[in-house]
Amino acid sequence: MQQSISVKEALASQAPRDALLVRGWVRTRRDAKTFSFLELNDGSCLKSLQVIADAALPNYAEVQRLTTGASVSVRGQLVPSQGQGQRWEVKAASVEIIGTADAAYPLQKKGHTPEFLREIAHLRPRSNLFGCVFRVRSRLAYAIHQFFQDRGFAYVHTPIITGSDCEGAGELFRVTTLDLKNPPRREDGEIDSSKDFFGRPTYLTVSGQLEAEAFACALAKVYTFGPTFRAENSNTSRHASEFWMIEPEMAFCDLQGNMEIAEEFVKYLIRDVRTHCAEDLELFAKFVDKGLLERLDFVVERPFQRVSYTEAVELLAKSGHKFEYPVEYGTNLQSEHERYLTEQHFKCPTTVYNYPKEIKPFYMRLNDDDRTVTAMDVLVPGIGEIIGGSQREERLDVLEKSMARHNLDPKDYGWYLDLRRYGTVPHAGFGMGFERMLMFVTGVSNIRDVIPFARTPGNAAF
Ligand code: 4AD
Ligand code: MG
Repeated sequence: MQQSISVKEALASQAPRDALLVRGWVRTRRDAKTFSFLELNDGSCLKSLQVIADAALPNYAEVQRLTTGASVSVRGQLVPSQGQGQRWEVKAASVEIIGTADAAYPLQKKGHTPEFLREIAHLRPRSNLFGCVFRVRSRLAYAIHQFFQDRGFAYVHTPIITGSDCEGAGELFRVTTLDLKNPPRREDGEIDSSKDFFGRPTYLTVSGQLEAEAFACALAKVYTFGPTFRAENSNTSRHASEFWMIEPEMAFCDLQGNMEIAEEFVKYLIRDVRTHCAEDLELFAKFVDKGLLERLDFVVERPFQRVSYTEAVELLAKSGHKFEYPVEYGTNLQSEHERYLTEQHFKCPTTVYNYPKEIKPFYMRLNDDDRTVTAMDVLVPGIGEIIGGSQREERLDVLEKSMARHNLDPKDYGWYLDLRRYGTVPHAGFGMGFERMLMFVTGVSNIRDVIPFARTPGNAAF
């Protein structure tokens, strides 16, 4: 079988080619007097390859019945194009029809709503916009590995099924094989988890951090990159129930070092995508978000603002802006507050650090003021939080007190406490929401449109 080449490779050719084989899906077909034009797309790039199918082809009658969505295999010559807008086209010697598509094919015309396209998530990657989104998604994942691998970080696979609630927010999906209709019960009537598959209650992980800490305390610099799950009932454009997270964890690192690497990381990813997905980004800039490219360049060029939580609260209170939720020291910043900081006030990415201990998870390092912990959130315009992280509490006694305050049973965290018992070190890390970062670099405003098959409250189709 002759090796086919991709449309991208064909379009990048430096010279004409004699025997070419390309395969893909017909985007459009239009007929001239003695030939038919096919626009062939195979997802390797945004552009399609123009194929000229001559009326002399033995199966020309069938070619003329080809409709949008059909799959074909084309042999022929790559020749300079006479037409406008493309350098090369294919003069077909044969057009083999692999699979037809009838008039019911849902991606006939442009201009479908995002809601409709979500219903056909199995077909939407064949559209221009979603082709671009998923090529950028792939590149971004690659760039993430490159960033950490180049800096000597080891990639750690933390478990998907876990017994602990890292963030302590109780947003866990339960994993069980118990018979839901008739679960085994203890004497007190509660469900007996000791009879469950793992002999204990288990959940889908909300974060690989705790396990990543164990590895950071051995391999010094590590990162995870995997799916995480949250059963939070947030129906927003930025929350998914299943999303991917990147979590670096570094031994011998403090909050300052953590903020620096987070900033370097965000800028690196933007630069990488700017370079390697230029054509895709141009489509976003044209159809999704006019200011995209300027904003990305601006972010790469400027230092991020840094502001403590206390300063941020004062600044929001003094802003005179009418927020839906009041700004008060000791409460979580709402999305509207975060966006005000980064969009209106600083007008650039902003790292907020040192939050009150009451509103942050148990593992964050207590500051000397005894009131705040070394948390940090990176906020970006248009989205709000894309990164959350902290320096971790490395002092055994302080960690135990923090766990007591959070009503956590030290018995459940024996292994985690061991990391402080044996050769404890200051360490820090963060989690970046992969889809949030993807939204930021593409300008796509709904998280459902940057995940192949979104899982959100009430929706797990496909
Ligand atoms: O701020 P979060 O909850 O932090 C953690 O889970 C830490 N354990 C990370 C760490 O320090 N290793 O989540 C991290 C990031 C957020 O900043 C956000 O970008 C993303 O994960 N995120 C979500 N993305 C999509 N849908 C959701 N429901 C998300 N929840 C968090
Ligand atoms: Mg957070």
